[in-house]
Formats: sequence, C-alpha cells, structure tokens
Amino acid sequence: MKFATCSAGPNLALVKYWGKIPGDERNIPATTSIGLTLSTLRTYTRVSIGSERELGKSSMTVNGKPEAVPQDFLLGLRALISASRAAAPQAFHDIPANAEISVSSTNNFSTSAGLASSASGYAALAAAAFAAALKPDLRREWLNSLSGRTEAESPATSGTVPGLPTAEQLSALARLGSGSASRSVFAGFSRFSAGQPNASQIFDENHWPDLRVLVLTLSSRRKEVSSRAAMEAARLTSPFYKTWIEESAKLADQAELAIRRRDIAALGPVMRSSYLQMFGTMFSSQPPLLYWLPGTVAVLQKLEELRSAGMQAWETMDAGPQVKIFMPESQASAIEAALAQAFPEVPRTLCGPGSGVRLEESESG
Ligand code: PMV
Repeated sequence: MKFATCSAGPNLALVKYWGKIPGDERNIPATTSIGLTLSTLRTYTRVSIGSERELGKSSMTVNGKPEAVPQDFLLGLRALISASRAAAPQAFHDIPANAEISVSSTNNFSTSAGLASSASGYAALAAAAFAAALKPDLRREWLNSLSGRTEAESPATSGTVPGLPTAEQLSALARLGSGSASRSVFAGFSRFSAGQPNASQIFDENHWPDLRVLVLTLSSRRKEVSSRAAMEAARLTSPFYKTWIEESAKLADQAELAIRRRDIAALGPVMRSSYLQMFGTMFSSQPPLLYWLPGTVAVLQKLEELRSAGMQAWETMDAGPQVKIFMPESQASAIEAALAQAFPEVPRTLCGPGSGVRLEESESG
C-alpha cells in the first residue's frame, strides 16, 4: 500500500459551467466556463492505493464523513495509471490493475455550501491518487511539471515528465469526479470549453496579482440539492435552458478578453450576466430552485450601492447562498469595511489568485 497527500484550491467560475451534454461520458459541459483557482481556501486529500486485500473496497471520507467514490472516477484512475505505466514502466510501484483507494479529504472551509469544495476535492484526489501510484522520487517532479515549475520553482524547460500524464490529462480525470474540478487542477485562470473532456490554463496566478476575491458565507449549512441534480433539472425543465447555452458561449469569450486586459470594469458585467442567467434557469425549472437567502439579496443590493458610489465590486454566485466579490486590491479595504459595517455577522474570507494542485506529503524512498 502506498500513499500521497495533495492539495488544491477551489476554482470559482466567472463564467459558469451549468449543464452537461447528455450521453455516456461523465460531466462533459454544455457551456464554456472560465474559472479562477483561489488562494487561502484549500482542500488536503490523502490517498492510499493498493490491493483490495490491503484496503478493502475503495472508500472516502470528506471532513470525517463517509462519501461514495464515484465508479467512473475509479475506472478512469485505473485506466490512466495503466496507460502511463505502459509508457513509463519504471516510474510506478507494483500495484494491481484493479487497485482500490482509501481517501481522506479535509477542507479549511465549509463543504458543499456553494464554495466549490467538489472542485478542489476532486482535483486534489486525482493528483494524490496518481501520485501515490508513482515511485516517491518522481512524485514532486511530476506535480511540479504540471504547473511548469522545476523543484526550485523556476520555469521548467522540459514541460512534462515523459510518459506521465499532462495537466490536461489530470484535468480530465478530475472531471470524472466533478466538472468544476477539471479547472481546479490549474493555477490562476482556466477555461473549460463546451464539449471538451478537460480544462486548460489560460493565465497563471501571476497574471493579475492585484485581483482580490472576498467570499461572504451567508450560511455554512450543506445544500439540499446538489449542483449536479440542479443543472440536470434545468436542462430537462427550464424553458430558458436553450438560450442560456447560446448566451454563455458569448460571455466566455468576452470574459477571457477582459481578463487578458485585467479590466475589472469590463469583466464585472459579464460575470454578473453569467451568474444571473444561470439562476434564471433555476428559477424557471420545475419545481423551481431557490438557493438564495434574504441575506444574499441584502448583500447584492449593497454591492449595487457601492458600484453606484464608484467601487469596482462585482459579485458572482454558485449553487448556494454565498456571494463572492471580485475587486481590485486598491479598493479591497474600503469595500470590505463597508460590507463589515453593513453585515457584521457574515463571515468574510479574502482570497487572491491561487496555485494549482500541489504535493503536500509523500513517503520517502
Ligand atoms: O462541478 P460541479 O458539479 O460542482 O458544478 C459546478 C457548478 C457551478 O459551481 C455552479 C458553476 C461552476 O462552473 O463552477
């Protein structure tokens, strides 16, 4: 039995993935999304890999609570290990083709409350499970190569370790657990295009260093309807779904251009259209779905007031009541102070652009 621990940050979508292409393949998006991996918030996932005799059937806990390991993910992991082992046999431990995994995952933020814990969770899991199958001396080198870094954190010349998965292949594996996880593999900004099996990085974490994201946690209760169920309900029952798919393609290109230019005044309205149109499909589903709380609406109104006063404070939301606000560093203290005064009871977490998957702990030798 071998083990490794990896971490990943949640990836917050500026333009949303909401809806899957129906078919056999798991979590292929119907919309193009663009997301930012956040600093500060992080999931740490330890994976042991070995035979069923050593580990029993695959199992997982998230913050100590048992959860099912998706079979598609396990099959994808085994397939990726066996294809990589055929290309680079000397890189791997002698683990069986039908290896099982035992997973223990911990978040430093609330789970399944609209904070993209599934994104960081499955990205960290994909990285740790693959790393555990590798010989220990190759783990760090492989993970560093994914972000284009050498051991000394300087730009890599080789790009990837020959025969081992690229960041895009790891992203496709993470997607089998959760669609947004395919973006959390990467540092900085990534794009997950409609119909594609994986995300790709578009700008690294140093592209826009003075961008800040303030997360307001309106409730830390676990949500009752998963994003998976909610987006499928929207596809099947919302009369707005077709329009949402068409409109979101335009929003992704507009957002990418605004990010390239580091133009928050151009980015903000595009982000706002994306999340409000996404919620439009939820409000118009049968039965309708409302993740918002009274406090959510109060925050949205306050942000509108701050923008009228000249602040660049632009929110987005996911399948939950939390509000995440993008803003320039130069205005961050003033915006945070105004929100703290108006909503003193609402916890706040300040983040910036964060790193991708990282190796945290590994066996020696
Ligand atoms: O990947 P999932 O199943 O957690 O769905 C993510 C859905 C949103 O967070 C609402 C949007 C997104 O692109 O992350």
